[in-house]
Parts: sequence; C-alpha cells; structure tokens
Amino acid sequence: MRVTVIGTGYVGTVTGACLAYLGHRVTCVDTDAGKIANLRRGQMPIYEPHLNELLREAAAHGGVDFDTDLAPAARESDVIFIAVGTPSGPNGEANLTYLESAARSIGAAMDGSRFRVVVNKSTVPVGCGNLVEALLRDGIRERHPSNGKEIRFGVASNPEFLREGCAIADSLYPERIVVGAEEGETTQLLRELYRPLVEQRFEAPWFMPRPAGMARVPLVTTTLTSAEMIKYAANAFLAMKIGFANEIANLCDRVGADAREVMTGIGLDSRIGSKFLNAGLGWGGSCFGKDIRSLLHTAEEYGYQARLLEAALAVNRAQRQVVIQKLQKKLYILKGRTIALLGLAFKADTDDLRDAPSLHIAERLLQLGARVKAYDPIAMAACRDQNPGLHIQYCDSPYDAALEADGVVLVTEWSEFRNLDLARMACMMREPVLVDGRNFYEPEAARAAGFDYTGIGRCARPKHAPARPATIGVAGHVSSPVAALSDVPVVASLDVMVALLDGGAK
Ligand SMILES: NC(=O)c1ccc[n+]([C@@H]2O[C@H](COP(=O)([O-])OP(=O)(O)OC[C@H]3O[C@@H](n4cnc5c(N)ncnc54)[C@H](O)[C@@H]3O)[C@@H](O)[C@H]2O)c1
Repeated sequence: MRVTVIGTGYVGTVTGACLAYLGHRVTCVDTDAGKIANLRRGQMPIYEPHLNELLREAAAHGGVDFDTDLAPAARESDVIFIAVGTPSGPNGEANLTYLESAARSIGAAMDGSRFRVVVNKSTVPVGCGNLVEALLRDGIRERHPSNGKEIRFGVASNPEFLREGCAIADSLYPERIVVGAEEGETTQLLRELYRPLVEQRFEAPWFMPRPAGMARVPLVTTTLTSAEMIKYAANAFLAMKIGFANEIANLCDRVGADAREVMTGIGLDSRIGSKFLNAGLGWGGSCFGKDIRSLLHTAEEYGYQARLLEAALAVNRAQRQVVIQKLQKKLYILKGRTIALLGLAFKADTDDLRDAPSLHIAERLLQLGARVKAYDPIAMAACRDQNPGLHIQYCDSPYDAALEADGVVLVTEWSEFRNLDLARMACMMREPVLVDGRNFYEPEAARAAGFDYTGIGRCARPKHAPARPATIGVAGHVSSPVAALSDVPVVASLDVMVALLDGGAK
C-alpha cells in the first residue's frame, strides 16, 4: 500500500520505518526542513536503538522517502497517518494546533482518485476523530469549492503504544493493535495494512529477533471514541501503577520494609502483575503527564472529578522531591555542595528529556545553592541545547561527574552504569553519598564499595537482622537511670511515653 506518515518524531519515524519494512511504500513528511534534510542524509532525528538499521532495511523492502511537502505524498496514499505532537497547553488541555494544521493540509491535498483512510496516531482527546473529519472537509472545500463531494475518505484512531528505547520491538511485535473507526471500509483497509504484523509473516530483522512463542497479534476494533479513550486509559493506569509503587516505597522507608521485596510479593499475583512496580524518583517523559492532564481536562469538560488521576499527578510531583530530601538527610546542608547526576534522559535508551525528573532535580538543587554536575551517555547535548539557563557542569564520564562530589544521584538506569567501579567512584568523592533513584544497585554491594547508600524504599537494615520492638528508656520511671538507658537512650516526657507505647515500643 502507499502510506504517508506526517511528523518525523519518535512515533512518526519509527512507524514509517516499520511499515516500509513490512513492504509498504512510505513517505514521511515533516514541516521541519532540517529534520527532513538530516533524514535524507541518514541522520536520525532521535536516539532510538537500531532505527538507523531499520531505515536502511526499510529502503530495501517497501521503500521510504522523506519530504516537507505533504500534498503529493497524501494524494498518492491509501493511508495517511497523523503522528504530530500534541503537547499540553497551560490548563492541561492538549494543544491541537499541529493536528489541525495537518488535517486541513491533508483535506486540501485529497482528490477523488481513491478511497483513503486518515489515521490519528497522535494521542488526542476524545472527539478528535470528529474534529479531523470536519477539518478534512474544510480542506477539501477550500481546494474544491464546487465539486469535493466525490472525494471519499474514512477517519480512524490507531493509538500508539510504543515505548521509547524499545520502540522498534514494540512496533514489530506489539501486544495489540487498536483500530477505532465508524465504518467497515475504513477498518478493512487498516486490517489489510496491518495483516503482515497481525500474522507475523515477515522475516524478523537481524538486529531484532522475534520473541520466542510470538504468534498472532490481536487486532482490537472499536468505535473511534473507545480507541481514543483506550490510549489515555492505558497511560493513566501505568502512571498510577508506578505512583502506587512509589507511595508504598515511601512507606517502606518509614517502617523498615524493603520495597523491592514487597513489589515481588504483590507482583506475583496475576491480577496485579510484576511490571511497572519499580519504585524510584517518579515517572517522566512526553506522555504520562500530558496525557493525564488532558484526560483530567476532558473529565472537567464533562463535570466529572477524576480523583485517582489527580492523585497520580500529585504523587509523582512529590516523588521528585524525595531525592532532595534524602540528600538533605545525609548531607544536612546542600548550599555549596556538589551533587553529581548520573543520567539525564527520562529513561534509558532515549535522548528524550521531556518532563525528565533530572531537570526538576537539577533545578531544585541549584535553587538550594548546590552545584550540579552530570553525565549522560546520550542526552547531554540535547540537555545543553534545550536548557541553556540550567547551570549544569556536563562531564565526560561518570567518574568525572563523581570527582570531588558530595553526593551522587542515579537518575537514569543506563546499562553502562551497571558496570561502574563503585569503589573507585566512592574514593573520588568528598562524601561518598549515593542516592539510588532507580533502585538500580544492590544496597549491600554499594555499601561494600564504600558508599553511604540510600535507595527508594530500600530498607537500611541487613536482611537477617529482624526488627524488634524498640526499647526506649525514659528518665525518672525506672529504679536507676543507668538501667533505663542501657538499651536505646531516649529521654522522654509523659505524653511522649504514651505515644511510644501506642506505637508498640517497650
Ligand atoms: N513519544 C512517545 O513515546 C509516544 C508514544 C505513544 C504516543 N505518542 C504520541 O504520538 C504523538 C507524536 O509524539 P512524538 O513523541 O513522536 O512527537 P515529536 O514532538 O517527537 O514529533 C512530532 C513531529 O511532528 C512534526 N510536525 C508538527 N506539525 C506538523 C505538520 N503540520 N506537518 C508535518 N509535521 C509536523 C514536528 O516537526 C515533529 O517533528 C503525540 O501525540 C504523542 O503523545 C508518543
């Protein structure tokens, strides 16, 4: 089939490359002439493992080219994907400017030569299928004021579930494909487009083998509105799941439980599942925050207060402060201290810094008077370009970042941080404080390397030293002060004593 993909960001470039790899003839279009020029030269607009190789293979399969001019490609295409950005506006509402402009341009480009399907792959609020249809008609009327009626098209929603960092595997071997449309002809065309994926009858690329046991991919057909809702509901649920793990981890920190053990214990329950239960410094990235805000905005439009969604945002906002509080607990004063951030990208294997926790942590540390050094294997150039006012000292290696630092924060779980020589690093620091924002290291190993280690919800107590009720000495209530203070010496007043007994202390 002939396909146009509008937008060459994370979603558009990967979608275009995968569809061409499956044998379709694809044109990727972007208004950003620089990106298109780079793509033509083989330079990727984003960091995504194996995207280069996939595009090379795709050129040899269905064929893929890049253009700034939407009209010729759209006119030739059976399916036109819209994969432009839908960032958050100031009140949380999705900014639909790019979507609207793309839809109008597609309308103006269409003619009566074939039936086409225009697909929303961008994450858009409920109702955008109708909006796109109206804008396509506006575009058609502009170009064909008297005779646009014979131009036939369908509109579909085909939400994207890829994860940055493993976007190609997610696209070639998805867990499901969702297609929302109102007419059978539209759904049928998309079924045809996705048949090689659904049946998994393409040869797996050499760099991305098919997962063992992978058979048919479920293609879920729904109404347009349900498909739009599925995307938001999926992201909201995942964000809440991480938020839940973080909230429990914060409680673990207080009661002396280990969040990793707790999450293993609950994750084995198939109703819960073990994925997305990693406690840490909070989620980031371009999607969760903006999609929850957009869903909250929709809820508000319908007079509904979505309390769980509000809580998911609030818990995540608070979680980013946990790292700062842990540093304060270890170092007391942050003014004049130097803190090293290991990792800047919002997660490993991407250069995406949108809503990255690193930026909030760096900003807060700078506000508190600390100096911030950072090392990231991929995202430093992007961070420097996108945040010129953020006074971070960018370093050449993790060791360079740790040199003379008073604390290190593991922010992004890049695999290269797995093999760091922690003992060497600890020796280079002024104070060997390590706040592990991703529970990436084993506490015992980090401590054995000389670090004063703290994770998120990782119990400081060695595994085989069971907690026992605290014994508190209260001066003036036992025969001898020495006997009272022989265990844990705390001098308390009567009301403190009552509270301690309530809390289970002896
Ligand atoms: N990034 C992800 O992991 C991810 C995952 C699932 C869904 N999504 C959704 O997919 C959509 C795209 O996300 P992204 O991360 O790829 O965005 P992005 O910002 O990386 O890329 C969007 C691209 O669209 C281009 N563009 C804007 N208006 C255009 C127009 N009128 N014509 C042609 N090109 C135009 C921009 O120049 C940009 O290159 C968003 O709605 C997002 O929520 C993203």
